[in-house]
Amino acid sequence: MSNADAIQEQQRQTWDRFSGGWTKWDELVMTWLQPAGDEIIRSLRLSDDGEHLDVAAGTGEPGLSVAARLPRGRVVLTDVSAGMLASAGANATARGLTNVELRECGVDPLPFEDASFDTISCRFGLMFFPDIPGAVAELIRVLRPGGRLSTAVWAESVDNPWATIPMAAIGAEVDLPAPVPDAPGLFRCAAPDAIANLFRGAGLRDVVETDVRGTLVTPSAEDYWSFMTEIAAPVVGGLGLADDESRARITATILEQIRSFEVDGRQSIPFHARCISGSR
Ligand SMILES: C[S@@+](CC[C@H](N)C(=O)[O-])C[C@H]1O[C@@H](n2cnc3c(N)ncnc32)[C@H](O)[C@@H]1O
Repeated sequence: MSNADAIQEQQRQTWDRFSGGWTKWDELVMTWLQPAGDEIIRSLRLSDDGEHLDVAAGTGEPGLSVAARLPRGRVVLTDVSAGMLASAGANATARGLTNVELRECGVDPLPFEDASFDTISCRFGLMFFPDIPGAVAELIRVLRPGGRLSTAVWAESVDNPWATIPMAAIGAEVDLPAPVPDAPGLFRCAAPDAIANLFRGAGLRDVVETDVRGTLVTPSAEDYWSFMTEIAAPVVGGLGLADDESRARITATILEQIRSFEVDGRQSIPFHARCISGSR
């Protein structure tokens, strides 16, 4: 197995393992990530009879919202994880969407002919792909000339305390493995213009990068922590290295820090992402 295949297989297994958590917390996640989905959809300039591809669709967004806007069009959702895709299928059914197809596959290669789609989205997927430039080239291959590609990635870690608070608290108690350069991870695509320049270098025109900011809102700090321990593989992996006493200190630290984001009795934890779009 090549290194790229091994990374993709590891991602598949991880996301399959956490797909139950993502399904359980889907409503909270969808509200949290909607600003990024809205910006992707705005930048796609959809026409109502278009053919759209959503790659790494997870539980279905933003592909399902695109499908709702394409009454005469068609949407294909792909994901490497069968568990995530099953959740997307259930969401499509629950929303009464009949123009949605599911395809379980990795990003590179994609099982589609050249120039098959008018628009392509990928929300918070790029950073998990084994070879990001290779994946972008593959997305452009299946995009029609004049078609639009739009993606969202996380910005710098300092602007995303929802992710850094637990990892810092865990790192203070256990020896986390040293980060592997260019390995899949939340902040791999965070540098300003990194993806925009990749898009330009791959031949896309009209490339625009837009900041997307918002909050992750949870009813309580305890809910935030339950959520993170059921959806976030690095958190669960790190906690697995801690003994009971360390784990209690980690939890106490995280709850205290998350409570500092209380607004009107709920926790509103900021996030910062970037949406990058362009035309083939
Ligand atoms: C953070 S989730 C994003 C899901 C959805 N787009 C959203 O924004 O809610 C990342 C998704 O990328 C998928 N993924 C990871 N590596 C992949 C690969 N190589 N090919 C296709 N999908 C992949 C995972 O299975 C997971 O569903």
